[in-house]
Amino acid sequence: MKIKSADFVMSNSDVAKCPNEPIPEYAFIGRSNVGKSSLINMLTERKSLAKTSGRPGKTQLINHFKINDNWFLVDLPGYGYARVSKRDKKTFQKYITNYFLQREQLACSFILVDIRHDPQPIDLEFMQWMGENAIPFAIIFTKADKLKPKAIEREVQNYLTTLTTDMWEEAPQHFVTSSSHRTGREELLAFIDDINEK
Ligand code: GTP
Ligand code: MG
Repeated sequence: MKIKSADFVMSNSDVAKCPNEPIPEYAFIGRSNVGKSSLINMLTERKSLAKTSGRPGKTQLINHFKINDNWFLVDLPGYGYARVSKRDKKTFQKYITNYFLQREQLACSFILVDIRHDPQPIDLEFMQWMGENAIPFAIIFTKADKLKPKAIEREVQNYLTTLTTDMWEEAPQHFVTSSSHRTGREELLAFIDDINEK
């Protein structure tokens, strides 16, 4: 799929105030610093459409970007960021869970995990919660440029084995990406295109 346009639409912390056009939407979620905003920039080939930072906690709101005038990419804040206060964490959780539970045009979500890390409880719990609420998602392994091909294969297999041993009979669909090397771009866009066409 060719990205002809990618435009920032709005930021907010209330799902009820998100754009109300009934077009398919794809959200990116995962731990702070995992590379959600960078991946949105890589997919859209826009260097700083979504704001990125080396410091975790950069994205703070629900950010809508309209692509090719007929679907949305959504950048979300990360979870698992240690430096926010307990109260902020609660508020955050509430508006993010409301977003996932109430956003009707959400076609698929992507849960990003750093390919270098073993499965983390916070990610597994979030995947479990998505499953329990029947919210469709795929997994994206990020920062693949940090590992050699053999190690990538090993880490992915290890992760999927954890999911099929402890949680589900079948692992969710997964993608391997690197925003700096543009790895996985065509596969992800083809996946989105397929759903858009349905
Ligand atoms: P929050 O908004 O804080 O939740 O973070 P985020 O998940 O949006 O991460 P962001 O895209 O801001 O990237 C965090 C850091 O990881 C930045 O320093 C990026 O340059 C780096 N990064 C993101 N993707 C990649 C990648 O594919 N490879 C490498 N090597 N670094 C990456
Ligand atoms: Mg971000």
